[in-house]
Amino acid sequence: MTTPEPALTNALLKVREAGYVLSEDWPRHGVRAQELGLHEDAGTVRLPPDVQLHDLHYIQNALPQQLSVQLLDYTDSTNSEMMRRRTKSGGADQLILTEYQSAGRGRRGKVWLGDYGRNIAMTLGIEFPLNLNALGGLSSVVGLALLQALELEGVDAQLKWPNDVWVKEQKLAGILVELVPTKIGTLAIVGIGINVDLTNVQASKIDQSVTTLRRLGALISRDDLVLAVHASVLKNFEVYSSEGFAPFLDAFNSAHCLQDRAAILVLGTESQQGIVRGIDITGGLRFEQNGATRIVTSGEVSLRPLTTEERQ
Ligand code: BTN
Repeated sequence: MTTPEPALTNALLKVREAGYVLSEDWPRHGVRAQELGLHEDAGTVRLPPDVQLHDLHYIQNALPQQLSVQLLDYTDSTNSEMMRRRTKSGGADQLILTEYQSAGRGRRGKVWLGDYGRNIAMTLGIEFPLNLNALGGLSSVVGLALLQALELEGVDAQLKWPNDVWVKEQKLAGILVELVPTKIGTLAIVGIGINVDLTNVQASKIDQSVTTLRRLGALISRDDLVLAVHASVLKNFEVYSSEGFAPFLDAFNSAHCLQDRAAILVLGTESQQGIVRGIDITGGLRFEQNGATRIVTSGEVSLRPLTTEERQ
């Protein structure tokens, strides 16, 4: 379901405005309130007391006026939504936020999960007057922007190439950048997901070790985090637009959790062991095997640390 049924839209609007909706007004078919992490009791569906929904006016007022900001209570994926809007409005200078994604997308065809109103799911549309091939390292530049925004909140995170945000080997945030050619260059559809908070039910469905900002003790509101991330991404994009990836190389290598460490490169069903030697000017990974270093491009590849057994 790309856009929710009107009954679901209405029910979520009531939850937003009043904090609850009568159970009988929750749509009988389709997504169940519990799946969204909403509470059901005494004939009502309620917003859990610790959930603070986004405030669109607060966010809009703090952002540049030329940026069009959309807040959706429910969508399949903010990146997919941006792809669809692109055909109508071009997609540039747009920010899409949602409280819930029914089909959030990660890199390499993976799903991205989160509860209603507890995480950040945002997609920024930015157009570069550059050819798609000239945008190497762009997703790592976004990763660095996220790290910079998190650092201001006292969160000491690291990157795992190309752009996973980790804290002590647990995933905190992910980035999915999709590039679309335009008349003047390339539209970058920059999707960012941050685990601000996660219920145990949702966390148990995720096939890797994850952490959240709340578990790490960071109390920043989701709205302020959107603003901080937006500002940080824009600042890095300004530098990137004029100077390319070179100014970010050293910062990336220092922030990389696998720098100069043995790691496994996973290409589909195949995996190879080697040593991570940083990234190059195109954003590719320098991977050393048997004394020779080759450059690996991100595409469908992933990188992981060696397990204890593999280290022996
Ligand atoms: C990954 O780590 O695999 C990337 C995850 C990216 C998730 C974000 S959430 C907002 C945007 N919409 C999506 O469907 N995906 C990205």
